[in-house]
Amino acid sequence: MSGRLISSFLALATSIFISNAYCSMTVDQEFFSPEICDHGQVDSKYQTSNLSGVSLIECAVGCHRENNCYSFTYGPDCVYHAGIITSDCSTAINRTEPFYFEKASCLNGGTEQPDGTCYCQDGFIGDRCHRLMTDCSEGANFPYYANLNLALYAKPVIATQPILVRCTMQYGGRTDVLQHLLPATNFTRSWAEYKNGFGEGEMFIGLEKLYLLLNSRTMDLHFAVYNIDSLYYHQTYYNFRIGNESEDYMIKNIGSFGGPLGNCLSDLIGFSFATFDHGDANGRNCADSFTAGFWFREYCAKCNPFGQLVRPADGFRLNVSNEKFWPDVNFSPWRVKAWIE
Ligand SMILES: *[C@@H]1O[C@H](CO)[C@@H](O)[C@H](O)[C@H]1NC(C)=O
Ligand SMILES: *[C@@H]1O[C@H](CO)[C@@H](O)[C@H](O)[C@H]1NC(C)=O
Ligand SMILES: *[C@@H]1O[C@H](CO)[C@@H](O)[C@H](O)[C@H]1NC(C)=O
Ligand SMILES: *[C@@H]1O[C@H](CO)[C@@H](O)[C@H](O)[C@H]1NC(C)=O
Ligand SMILES: *[C@@H]1O[C@H](CO)[C@@H](O)[C@H](O)[C@H]1NC(C)=O
Repeated sequence: MSGRLISSFLALATSIFISNAYCSMTVDQEFFSPEICDHGQVDSKYQTSNLSGVSLIECAVGCHRENNCYSFTYGPDCVYHAGIITSDCSTAINRTEPFYFEKASCLNGGTEQPDGTCYCQDGFIGDRCHRLMTDCSEGANFPYYANLNLALYAKPVIATQPILVRCTMQYGGRTDVLQHLLPATNFTRSWAEYKNGFGEGEMFIGLEKLYLLLNSRTMDLHFAVYNIDSLYYHQTYYNFRIGNESEDYMIKNIGSFGGPLGNCLSDLIGFSFATFDHGDANGRNCADSFTAGFWFREYCAKCNPFGQLVRPADGFRLNVSNEKFWPDVNFSPWRVKAWIE
């Protein structure tokens, strides 16, 4: 019996005995309590043994070891069952009565396959779908998400709550940051919208989610730009990291960069994100003239990937001095995508 397993049983015991929410689900890697029930709600034909004088942990360990044990009730006796509860367990009981536990098979809506493995959903992964992926790159390793483009929950290491992200799985698990394909989409958005994210097909992930993802492990930021002839340009910023909200999500780090678009972001390290309604006067002016939120400095920025998809012949848009779609680009962007992986 490993220390991890015992400590998970201890965690289970603690969570049960300090819980006041009798009917809330308690999930653990080895067992879970779908409801807290009395013995009468488990069909007696499934009862396999009845031990007295063992602790909850000993009872759980015994059931874990016994292949024929799918569930147990505890208190005052430790009773093993070769089946799981079939009736609706909606009666809340008090702590002097027995507690019911099921051996976890597939958790969180996962479905068991003929070979005994779990087929998970919603961003859950692992042998029993017992935890969320940290980002789309991790989720792409599992067959039930491979090659799909979909919204899933993720739990970056430093996040306290799950976050909803959009994944493009077929290229190895991209967590989508920006997708701007239609010129009519308006990226002149408020601070609150850039912070929380907006859109679904045409979308921006949101700076808070970006901060959580980029600070949970080393990630690279990618831009893909297509011109009207569908020529594809790909620029990468390795080890890209931004600060938190109190730092206005300033660019903190860029390890190196590569690609045909020319540099732009390296000059913006240490500068904050700004929108028309948030940032210093220069930042708000830049957001106005770029018609988008972005990281800005005294000359605004040499690139404007969040800007409007207008298509002037000279590569400059909106007649803002210095404002080009991207420094080394003399074409007008047709579609823009960004992702981290
Ligand atoms: C378990 O055994 C004890 C002692 O023999 C008995 O009193 C109790 O009713 C049994 N529990 C179940 C659920 O059969
Ligand atoms: C708790 O359960 C015991 C045993 O069934 C019962 O005697 C007692 O009245 C219950 N207490 C409450 C508050 O329901
Ligand atoms: C975009 O949205 C902003 C803020 O709501 C608004 O002021 C602006 O007029 C919109 N631009 C277009 C082209 O619709
Ligand atoms: C934001 O990050 C800075 C620098 O790491 C830190 O000092 C500050 O406490 C953080 N603020 C919040 C609200 O987490
Ligand atoms: C930029 O200025 C030129 C000349 O004043 C004008 O013809 C053009 O329409 C302007 N472009 C935009 C996008 O406003």
